[in-house]
Amino acid sequence: MSSLYTIRAGDPEQRQEVLRAMPRLAELAAPLREQALTAWASAWLASTHRTLEEMPYSLQAPDYRLLDHTNEVADAGILLADYAHGQWGVGLDQDILLAALLLHDIDKALLYTRIDGKVVADPARAGLPHGVLGAMLLREAGLPDEVVTLVGTHATTSPVKTRDAEAWVLHYADLFACDHAFRVAPGTVPFFQRT
Ligand SMILES: [Fe+2]
Ligand SMILES: [Fe+2]
Repeated sequence: MSSLYTIRAGDPEQRQEVLRAMPRLAELAAPLREQALTAWASAWLASTHRTLEEMPYSLQAPDYRLLDHTNEVADAGILLADYAHGQWGVGLDQDILLAALLLHDIDKALLYTRIDGKVVADPARAGLPHGVLGAMLLREAGLPDEVVTLVGTHATTSPVKTRDAEAWVLHYADLFACDHAFRVAPGTVPFFQRT
């Protein structure tokens, strides 16, 4: 059996908890919503974290919650998409975009753990880059190829970038929210200040 993750739907209470933690999941159309809930339940139950709330966002911002970052990227992404559509007439698939916003960092639930209270890379999943592990999980949880591709290529370190407008919106929503977390993390330089 793989030590990376197992796809598990979770029980109704756990699925409800995921929905409560990321309220915009309820805005997804029915099949996508259920697939996204299963993906998050799988990541949570395969992780070393007891609760969704204790999942850390980043080694560089270990006190910032992954849930907060995820919800902030979803909010910022919807704002950007509305502007791009209203101002520039950019066509965006709202469901695919929202799913990607809510799922883009799902593998961070698995990539980080705590040892003696300190957030560290989980040695069991250290061989796979951020984004790739998430894409694998999402593919197995039944998410559409477009969401799998957006998540698999979203990381700033990804050697491949898709040309889709959804990838553009995800990128800037992610970096905007990320730099907020990095600005408040002691000793961490946000992306926008890096030379
Ligand atoms: Fe990411
Ligand atoms: Fe992110």
